[in-house]
Amino acid sequence: MIKDAFKFSDKALAEIQRYISHYPEGRQKSALLPALHVAQAENNGWVSPEAMDAIAEILNIQPIEVYEVATFYTMFNLKPVGKHVLEVCRTGPCCLRGADQMIETFKQKLNIEEGETTADGMFTLKPVECLASCGTGPMLQVRETYYENLDSEEAVDQFIEMMRNKEVETPEWAK
Ligand code: FES
Repeated sequence: MIKDAFKFSDKALAEIQRYISHYPEGRQKSALLPALHVAQAENNGWVSPEAMDAIAEILNIQPIEVYEVATFYTMFNLKPVGKHVLEVCRTGPCCLRGADQMIETFKQKLNIEEGETTADGMFTLKPVECLASCGTGPMLQVRETYYENLDSEEAVDQFIEMMRNKEVETPEWAK
């Protein structure tokens, strides 16, 4: 079966070219990680096989070289996700500050398990390791933004309500 090719927008292509220009001739593969971030932003929060193939073509590398990097890093989503991906920290320091309870509260309020997306497509709950904001845990990240001190049911309720009315952040390069 022939797959539909993934098409980057002109702004996205310009952003990838900007990264490529940071590296010496022939070292364009070094722009792979930022290119994956651009692809994820372009593709509703996940990186499809077609998007990875398009990156391989732009960087003049083999598709497998893109797949092996995209599957290594947890920040890349390899299947469709909700409008807002809640990357909840579950590492020790946040757990000491109530991360387990925060995650349980999200599961209960959103009626999903870890790794799942709500029926309305609004939220995906994704446990991750330390996000380097241990002193303000329990916390989570949505795209580029941290949300901290979610240490009570009320805080989680307020966060969910706020996110329901929030548009997806547009990356600087796409504005
Ligand atoms: S342990 Fe959660 S941010 Fe470090």
